[in-house]
Amino acid sequence: MAVPLILDCDPGHDDAMALLLAIADPAVDLLAVTTVAGNQTVDKCTLNARRVLSLAGASHIPVARGAAQPLVRRLRIADDVHGQTGLDGPLFTDEPSVPESPYSAHELLTDVLRTHPTPVTVVATGALTNVAALLASEPVPNLAEIVWMGGSTDRGNIQPLAEANAAVDPEAADQVVRSGVPFTMCGLNVTHQALVTDEIVAQFERIGTPLARVCVEWMTFFASTYRDLFGFAAPPLHDPVAVARVIDPAIVRCVEANLVIETQGEWTAGATVVDLDGYTGRPANARIAVELDRGAFWSRIVAAVAALG
Ligand code: RIB
Ligand code: CA
Repeated sequence: MAVPLILDCDPGHDDAMALLLAIADPAVDLLAVTTVAGNQTVDKCTLNARRVLSLAGASHIPVARGAAQPLVRRLRIADDVHGQTGLDGPLFTDEPSVPESPYSAHELLTDVLRTHPTPVTVVATGALTNVAALLASEPVPNLAEIVWMGGSTDRGNIQPLAEANAAVDPEAADQVVRSGVPFTMCGLNVTHQALVTDEIVAQFERIGTPLARVCVEWMTFFASTYRDLFGFAAPPLHDPVAVARVIDPAIVRCVEANLVIETQGEWTAGATVVDLDGYTGRPANARIAVELDRGAFWSRIVAAVAALG
């Protein structure tokens, strides 16, 4: 039985690949897409989400716009990584065929959770602003778990000790972790195992479809900024790791640990403090991803792109 999920995202090159995986993999059923500001403005992230679904022929999946700003802090976008469009690489000039939903992300999230016959998983691959607002509204029915690409058990990538999705909105991440909803964190410590090597790009090239060629252009741009900014020989494809965890938990090994989010630190706001060694005595409150089955991960993604034609 396919796992029903909603993907809350900030496309973003890796979000785009996470969307394709969620659309095509038979182990999950993508019910809705919601967008949040992060990699780019929410305007651009929403347009990009519509673009990805249009390229994938997924016109049956609604796309709803979410938060334009973090809960309390000023938005900081990652145009240095994802470009002026947020999905630089191939140039599109036409309007995506998939429209923007007339509902807000909050309305769509709430409606899907209320009406779906079985519990729904929310996969979040951006800041947790929309998810925090959802959990703050009223008791949320039918929410199975939240699986987040964000944080890190090690160092950060936008601040020395803070990863981008956590650093954009630490207050939202803190509220979501404190909510008690089952929570899985797929942080940089595991997503840096998902490197888009030349061999992976060659696998996309061998698919030979227009969509696969777009993916190659996205990965080529993403590789260029990761090389220039971080000195990576190959870019880490962060966000599909969270989707892969839902597709088959064996692909992303997790451990239970205590997780708290730093919101007060002058130098550490957004740090995801994971007590892997039990130093604090605080009870485990999250699943923490620690290891990726690269072979299974990449075969699922390549199969998804090939399946979408
Ligand atoms: O730090 C990486 C995360 O921040 C990814 O989700 C990327 O898309 C950006 O949102
Ligand atoms: Ca993202």
